[in-house]
Amino acid sequence: MLQAFSLQKKVALVTGGAQGLGEAMAAAMGEAGARLAVGDINMEQAEITAAAFRERGWDAKAYAVDVSERETVDQLFAAVVADFGGLDVVVNSAGLNRRHLMKDMTAEDYDTIMNVNLKGTFNVCQAAGRVMLERATNGSIINISSISSMIVNQRRPVGTYCSSKAGVNGLTRAFAAEWAEHGIRVNAIAPGYFTTPLNESWIHTAQGDEALKQTPMGRFGKPEEIGPTAVYLASDASSFVTGHVLMLDGGYTIW
Ligand SMILES: NC(=O)c1ccc[n+]([C@@H]2O[C@H](COP(=O)([O-])OP(=O)(O)OC[C@H]3O[C@@H](n4cnc5c(N)ncnc54)[C@H](O)[C@@H]3O)[C@@H](O)[C@H]2O)c1
Repeated sequence: MLQAFSLQKKVALVTGGAQGLGEAMAAAMGEAGARLAVGDINMEQAEITAAAFRERGWDAKAYAVDVSERETVDQLFAAVVADFGGLDVVVNSAGLNRRHLMKDMTAEDYDTIMNVNLKGTFNVCQAAGRVMLERATNGSIINISSISSMIVNQRRPVGTYCSSKAGVNGLTRAFAAEWAEHGIRVNAIAPGYFTTPLNESWIHTAQGDEALKQTPMGRFGKPEEIGPTAVYLASDASSFVTGHVLMLDGGYTIW
């Protein structure tokens, strides 16, 4: 059974892989045998992360990319295929947030959120699928959505972020439907509250306490808890799963 979860010899690219959940998912896939391409806008941190992966005995390389800029996305995929000789798994973890009430949201921050979270996911999915279609690879694409794709976080100024992640779920289903017949699966993981740099600014405040109260399991997720889910969706263990949005939220969306 465990063989179904193996990623031995698979090439996995993780955008936003330099830190946080992306780094944790890349590490889990490394442990499962994958060769790792770490793509991030923060090249300095991506280099550090890739070097740490190599120290653990894994084949890993860092790449600079801004997922909102199509040209750099195309360059990333060309470089990864040239370096690794193929591409089997792509995880879209690059994402960000800008917090304003909807009435105060600026045009600039609206564009930033949408360009990275939604257009970036489109750019990376399309580029990944094109490579997989061309090479007739049975690939797996995993988008990182959020509980905020299903709900609007209570009393938090994150409505535009919620909208961007709802769009990520839509893109996940649209790409999944189109590419199912070609053996390319597209799924999403929707994390609840995890302790990562993205959340550092508020997780230990009264708002963080409120979020804990709204989580049936009564705690935040640890980054390493997302790894096995990524391995599951990346591997043959999920061979009949596509177009699915998997909640990883300590029960947050039950209430
Ligand atoms: N941490 C949480 O609790 C949580 C909850 C739900 C969803 N998410 C989602 O998980 C994903 C990862 O979040 P995280 O908590 O690890 O955040 P993080 O800020 O720790 O890491 C995000 C990474 O993405 C990179 N990045 C940002 N913009 C980029 C761009 N334009 N191009 C390429 N790379 C870019 C950053 O440099 C960083 O390394 C995001 O999509 C986020 O929305 C996180």
